[in-house]
Amino acid sequence: MIIVGGSSSRDLAKDLSNALGCRYIQAATTRFPDGECYTRIDIESLNDDVVIVQNTYPDSNLIEMFLLQDAVKKMGAERVTLVIPYFGYARQDRVFKPGEPESAKVMIKHLGMMCDRVFTVDIHKESVLDYFDCPHEDLKAAPVIADHFMPKNIDLVLSPDLGAKDRARAVGERMGIPYDYLDKVRLSGSDVRISPAQMDCKGKNILIVDDMISTGGTIVAAKQALMEAGAKSVSVACTHGLFVNNALERLTGNALESVLCCNTLENQVSHISVAGIISDALKKKW
Ligand code: R5P
Repeated sequence: MIIVGGSSSRDLAKDLSNALGCRYIQAATTRFPDGECYTRIDIESLNDDVVIVQNTYPDSNLIEMFLLQDAVKKMGAERVTLVIPYFGYARQDRVFKPGEPESAKVMIKHLGMMCDRVFTVDIHKESVLDYFDCPHEDLKAAPVIADHFMPKNIDLVLSPDLGAKDRARAVGERMGIPYDYLDKVRLSGSDVRISPAQMDCKGKNILIVDDMISTGGTIVAAKQALMEAGAKSVSVACTHGLFVNNALERLTGNALESVLCCNTLENQVSHISVAGIISDALKKKW
């Protein structure tokens, strides 16, 4: 097996090759003066199972992924596995208003033209993966999030909404502590309303878990509701830290330690590694 790291996921791709004891090649990706993507895999041949590790977000990384798929095929890759740590466009998983595209399906149909197997991590809507004709699996980060927080004296795990309650359950069960969810209503792209917490939060150290933090609106509202309900401390963990428009700074001030995410997107607080989960999956028989 040979791991090819795209520019979104260099550290994770290297960690995977170390965990699997296999060869690692970093794609040499640059931009033409007009912004178009140029990439090259500098190797004589790739006559082996090839794994490309690359996000499909932002759009520039999606284009790089398409080019890498073609390059590895041309270099002789026998079977191509895509590891897409953060799958962009998964939230537009259906037509919400007439005239919209089904963005997740569009991306999958194009990615699916040149691959034999796909792994994602905590994709927003798992069911969209069924648009791939090849074997696919969404891997769950809950165990590594739970293990990270195990020694940290957490009393209660909460998801910010009903949609993420299974994640809170998975983390809470592994930590052996109670879990629940909050009620969230989205008011706009960046504003949400979270109802006052129903559960007893007084004096508790609470961990909020979510699949992603984008603008941070959800976490700000959830933290506020929990502090008003008397929580002693609120820690935050998500799988994908997008942190758009300086959301990380707004959420933490200088206290970066109160927000953590996995290394599906590499940033200042992506200290929870999903390399073990992905390498275990890559070892499985096809
Ligand atoms: C929503 O369904 C997701 O699970 C996240 O809660 C949401 O995308 C977070 O977005 P933001 O940080 O912009 O509130």
